[in-house]
Amino acid sequence: MVKSLLAAEEASSQVRVQGWVRTKRDSKAFSFVEINDGSCLANIQVIVDATVPGYEASILPLRTGASLEVEGGLVESQGKGQKWEMVAKSVIVHGQADEDYPLQKKGHKAEFLRSIAHLRPRSNLFGCVFRVRSRLAYAVHQFFQQRDFVNVHTPIITASDCEGAGEMFQVKTVSGESGQEGQAKNGEEEFFGKPAFLTVSGQLEGETFACALSNIYTFGPTFRAENSHTTRHASEFWMIEPEMAFCDLEADMSLAEELVKYLVCDVLENCAEDLELFGKFVDKGLMERLHFVRDRSFERVTYTEAVDLLLASEQKFEFPVEYGANLQSEHERYLTEQHFKCPVTVYNYPKEIKPFYMRLNDDDKTVAAMDLLVPGIGEIVGGSQREERLEILRGNMEREGLAEEEYWWYVDLRRYGTVPHAGFGLGFERMLMFVTGVANIRDVIPFPRVPGWAEF
Ligand code: 4AD
Ligand code: MG
Repeated sequence: MVKSLLAAEEASSQVRVQGWVRTKRDSKAFSFVEINDGSCLANIQVIVDATVPGYEASILPLRTGASLEVEGGLVESQGKGQKWEMVAKSVIVHGQADEDYPLQKKGHKAEFLRSIAHLRPRSNLFGCVFRVRSRLAYAVHQFFQQRDFVNVHTPIITASDCEGAGEMFQVKTVSGESGQEGQAKNGEEEFFGKPAFLTVSGQLEGETFACALSNIYTFGPTFRAENSHTTRHASEFWMIEPEMAFCDLEADMSLAEELVKYLVCDVLENCAEDLELFGKFVDKGLMERLHFVRDRSFERVTYTEAVDLLLASEQKFEFPVEYGANLQSEHERYLTEQHFKCPVTVYNYPKEIKPFYMRLNDDDKTVAAMDLLVPGIGEIVGGSQREERLEILRGNMEREGLAEEEYWWYVDLRRYGTVPHAGFGLGFERMLMFVTGVANIRDVIPFPRVPGWAEF
């Protein structure tokens, strides 16, 4: 791998590299070939002398994007900027690239690169994004495993609408005329015996496991059929959802803050080369912001205090600020970017604007909900303490028009050893946007799905 070659301690007479040509320069007696294999941002420079077998026939015509395998020596580089380069002894060309290879030049527009999502991981920027994505996923598991949280795989197909927003994709079979064996014949909903959907959240199933294993987390894909055309919404995104038994809102907020901080520190420590590129080309303020988040504590305000701050701000907002309405993205961003200038958790929201499962506070007006907001993005975490009291939960469900027959298993948790419990959902892509500075969610998802777009 290029990464391990470039990190070598000493020269070697026999090494091998496999990858794709980024650039090639020919001079009279040799060619310089820059090879990248995605293991790191940097390329390795390979010097192919004209005496290497097959030089004229297969090396000279090589184009950007071609794949090859080189054996040779690792020597100290004469040039600036890199410690090592390779001198080829033999080259195998696996595949030439056609002349119309789209990643010839640097500086393509993000929109264009989205249209070639099958090739964009070969660009510097997207290589960095997806290496950081991988590291971040690893760090998520590490965070929870170190704290003895049990990873639960909640279902992707479900019959319940956790958030109650009705923004669900229904799952049906492709109804063949003849009806193959095992497939529903009349009425597509028969496959599961009732309407089924792609999950919007693993929370409800997660709660059942927390009420058995105490501290659990889920980390998987979730789906929302919202018709939102923003830079922060995708139809398919990944969410991390811890759920803790014997836990209140206070501890829930602390865990969310700790997780966000942990992930920032981990990426700072382990993705330095990739972050440097983001800081240079994507978001000049990135490193300062990440250091700030690492070093400072976050703020907390109640929803009521937040509304008062917004009303007192004399800012011109597109959406009016009033007690009882949802905070809009512009309001969230004002709080975190202008007022507090740091991540801030807003908690205790009016019960009317939150889902049925959130715990009613003693004031009878608000629920123990919280949103963690970060600069540049707004909401990155949404969570709450759950309503553990049977009668109050039943009342909420009735008010929301949720049939107890459908959620009987969820209600059961309140009948058999109910406990105070709480959890939250961290949007994985929003976290990735936060640590990379990448401004559009479509550019941190390998193959993004948004309204009107499911190519690849
Ligand atoms: O606030 P949300 O809707 O909360 C829940 O789904 C709860 N059931 C979580 C829980 O308590 N276990 O979503 C949680 C987070 C948001 O804060 C946001 O970061 C992300 O998920 N998110 C999205 N990310 C990308 N595209 C979308 N359409 C998103 N909707 C929510
Ligand atoms: Mg939310």
